[in-house]
Amino acid sequence: KRVAVLISGGGSNMLALLRDMVGDHPGRAVFVGSNDPTAPGLQRAAELGVAVAAVDHRPFGRDRAAFEAAMLAPILASEPDILCLAGFMRVLTPEFVRRFEGRMLNIHPSLLPKYPGLHTHARALAAGDTEAGCTVHEVTAELDAGPILGQARVPVLPGDTEAALAERVLRQEHRLYPAVLRRYAQGDRSRLDL
Ligand code: GRF
Repeated sequence: KRVAVLISGGGSNMLALLRDMVGDHPGRAVFVGSNDPTAPGLQRAAELGVAVAAVDHRPFGRDRAAFEAAMLAPILASEPDILCLAGFMRVLTPEFVRRFEGRMLNIHPSLLPKYPGLHTHARALAAGDTEAGCTVHEVTAELDAGPILGQARVPVLPGDTEAALAERVLRQEHRLYPAVLRRYAQGDRSRLDL
């Protein structure tokens, strides 16, 4: 399966996916795109020989559809079977999502359905949660609400700062996302709990 990945920043999840898609893996990375031309992940993907493209979302202002039309061009040119959002920080319109419904994944740094949206670690700490984690789900028009394909849990430790919890969760993201994509690329939609 041809896999395209969208990022907005460092791309550590994207790297974890690319590093896993080797050998007999059913997926092959064919494209990495970003809404930020300065995203460090673009350089790291290019160094791994993957086609990359950036479309700066800022000139499009509030015209979300126009940005997406520009971003869609290089994505479609790579003819992906699966689209993975990995630290991609733009909300996508239902029209864009519909194009990839049933073959688009996202990783979210909380145990959905808890804490959709932003600042997930701060919210877990503020709530006094003793457990946190991350979720890989299929992307649907409703933000952070598609069918869950996998979750990984971590303890919240006494005195945890947001940064400490974020780092502990991010390490699990790098385990969970590749494991889910490997199954998903083989047509296995069963839920994986790490
Ligand atoms: C991280 O906060 C991660 O939890 C979330 O997106 C952010 C950046 O991830 N998925 P990455 O390093 O760009 O993959």
